Amino acid sequence: MGFFASIDGVIAPAADARVSVLDNGFTFGDSVYETLRTYSGRPLALDRHLRRLRHSAARIGVALPLSDEVLGQRLAALLEAGGNPESYIRMIVTRGVGDISYNFERVKGPTVVMAVKPYAPLGDAAYEEGVQAALVSVRRNAADALDPAIKSCNLLNNILAMREAQSRGAIEAILLNHRGEVAEGAGSNIVLIRKDEVVTPPLSAGILPGITRELLMEIAPEAGYTIREQTLVAGDLFGADELFFTSTLKELAPIRAIDKTTIGDGKPGPVTKRLLAAYRAAVPRFCR
Ligand SMILES: Cc1ncc(COP(=O)(O)O)c(C=O)c1O
Repeated sequence: MGFFASIDGVIAPAADARVSVLDNGFTFGDSVYETLRTYSGRPLALDRHLRRLRHSAARIGVALPLSDEVLGQRLAALLEAGGNPESYIRMIVTRGVGDISYNFERVKGPTVVMAVKPYAPLGDAAYEEGVQAALVSVRRNAADALDPAIKSCNLLNNILAMREAQSRGAIEAILLNHRGEVAEGAGSNIVLIRKDEVVTPPLSAGILPGITRELLMEIAPEAGYTIREQTLVAGDLFGADELFFTSTLKELAPIRAIDKTTIGDGKPGPVTKRLLAAYRAAVPRFCR
């Protein structure tokens, strides 16, 4: 099992792989990324992740002159080098190597990094008992300051939220936006169930358009549910029958409590279980 990286197509053990200290990704966090995982060795929704990666890169004015085919070939070679039964995949695109200045015309790039390591699932207990969440004081970046729809390697907003959540014994943070509405988790989106209604905050809450959220919205009707977008406040979360996070790595992670408040029965509810089963049954269709 291996942790390997590809830097501009050159594969090496991740611990030996190097980018320049003058890379804008390092000096300014001037970079965007994607996190993917494999099922049966094949990346889930690679096309959607590459589309979002290009969108993020375009939003910061970075051209990515590699086709999806080339990126897919590089990833396939890296997955083969990694040799893991299931892989966690990180793709990073930085503006490139600069001179520690705002003279973007001097930057030579982009730098395209991919890394793979064994995929570590959340664990059965999380799906059987639910996970602990924390409603943190850190607010999600305002979309007109640093739009959360740009999947930026500037993760300090998320890091501050996660550190606060972890200090309170939670595995994931829930962030409100600057208007006090529910935004998202530090690394996931949020879905709420109330009297058989399944709702999730709209993109206008200032969130990352999660690919798991998107896939689930497409898949849910197969389980007899429609997911609606609706503005939510903290009180809605505390009064929910069921609540879960969605992310590529966590799939659908049931929330058993937010801080000291138990959600519903304090264990994964029937709608969450049905949606998780439908999601897991459907994901192979989105892997290639
Ligand atoms: C802030 C944030 N929101 C939501 C998500 C979930 O996105 P996806 O379902 O595409 O993994 C992530 C995943 O990394 C994230 O970082």
